[in-house]
Amino acid sequence: MATKQLKMGVVGATGMVGTEFLKMLQERQIPISELRLFASERSSGKTLKYRDQDIELQALRDGCFTGLDVVFFSAGGPISKIWAPKAVEEGAYAIDNSSVFRMNKEIDLVVPEVNGDLLHKYTGPKLIANPNCSTIQLMLALAPLQKKFGLASVKVATYQSVSGAGIEAVDELKNQTRAYLQNEEVKPQIFSESIAYNNLPLIGEVETSGYTNEEEKMIHEANKILRQEDLKLSSFCVRTSTINGHSEAVWVELNKTIEKEEFVKCLKSAPGVVVSDSFTTNRTADGKDPVYIGRIHRDFYDSKTWLFWCVSDNIRKGAALNGIQIAEMIFDISQH
Ligand SMILES: NC(=O)c1ccc[n+]([C@@H]2O[C@H](COP(=O)([O-])OP(=O)(O)OC[C@H]3O[C@@H](n4cnc5c(N)ncnc54)[C@H](OP(=O)(O)O)[C@@H]3O)[C@@H](O)[C@H]2O)c1
Repeated sequence: MATKQLKMGVVGATGMVGTEFLKMLQERQIPISELRLFASERSSGKTLKYRDQDIELQALRDGCFTGLDVVFFSAGGPISKIWAPKAVEEGAYAIDNSSVFRMNKEIDLVVPEVNGDLLHKYTGPKLIANPNCSTIQLMLALAPLQKKFGLASVKVATYQSVSGAGIEAVDELKNQTRAYLQNEEVKPQIFSESIAYNNLPLIGEVETSGYTNEEEKMIHEANKILRQEDLKLSSFCVRTSTINGHSEAVWVELNKTIEKEEFVKCLKSAPGVVVSDSFTTNRTADGKDPVYIGRIHRDFYDSKTWLFWCVSDNIRKGAALNGIQIAEMIFDISQH
């Protein structure tokens, strides 16, 4: 049977995530008969290359999604909030990268390797939320352990690259780094303090709980995706002066005591995961699809607790790849 040719839209096509969407749609040879690209009014009239086509960027307007099968949203929460439901009304699946719909009970929050079964029940266009980038990579590691051994608690410290805060954040790191080396200073615009040669233990805003909203997102999203409301997960998120890729140091307490071989075997057979004997860095993970796990060892004091290092490309599996995999599952597009 011939594969259906899809009509697709990308909102935020000029951004960090949008650019990766365009790259990955080509890389994965998604069958596309029409591609509409959207950005702000500032970009209207400019063009972006897709395969051998120059596609003109459009601003959003009522009716702009009519005739499309699926639209990927990566232009921030306020845009998604208004326009993603409109895309569904106009007949398209909307796959949203922002955080606005993630905790809505009516909306599925999907990592295809973990809870992709949710996508099989759809009978018509729906809005589907893509989880936070730091959550996605953690889910690929935790889900197989949950299934095989049961999870009691998880603690995670993140080391998140500036690309997670968009294109302007990458420019800010580069400009501040150049300036620092010349004993000059570039005033922070995106981050609260200079990010060059620095770690900022604050991503988002501090909530009344004392956690930041980024940390709370990881906690609540994990419970929803793993369908385990009693999982005790705690996170501490740090922005580092790396360009791309998020790293995580993870402590996972299982429901039973197992041997290291069993732990490693379980992760080695997990989809989308690559286990190494030593470790993988952000720079090695940059531009690659898998979630890399390394430095696996048992806790000194608790035989049920394991520590590991988890690295992934936040723009790819943490955003664009996960979104495209959702579309591939909905439209039954296989990858060889
Ligand atoms: N970066 C990550 O690792 C990551 C991971 C997961 C999820 N996300 C989420 O994805 C979204 C985008 O992130 P990003 O990092 O790609 O940001 P970004 O690099 O700053 O890009 C923002 C995009 O939004 C577009 N935009 C701004 N205002 C618009 C408007 N009024 N109408 C239509 N488009 C508009 C921009 O177009 P112009 O070029 O015309 O301004 C640009 O294409 C955010 O919700 C973010 O939280 C990001």
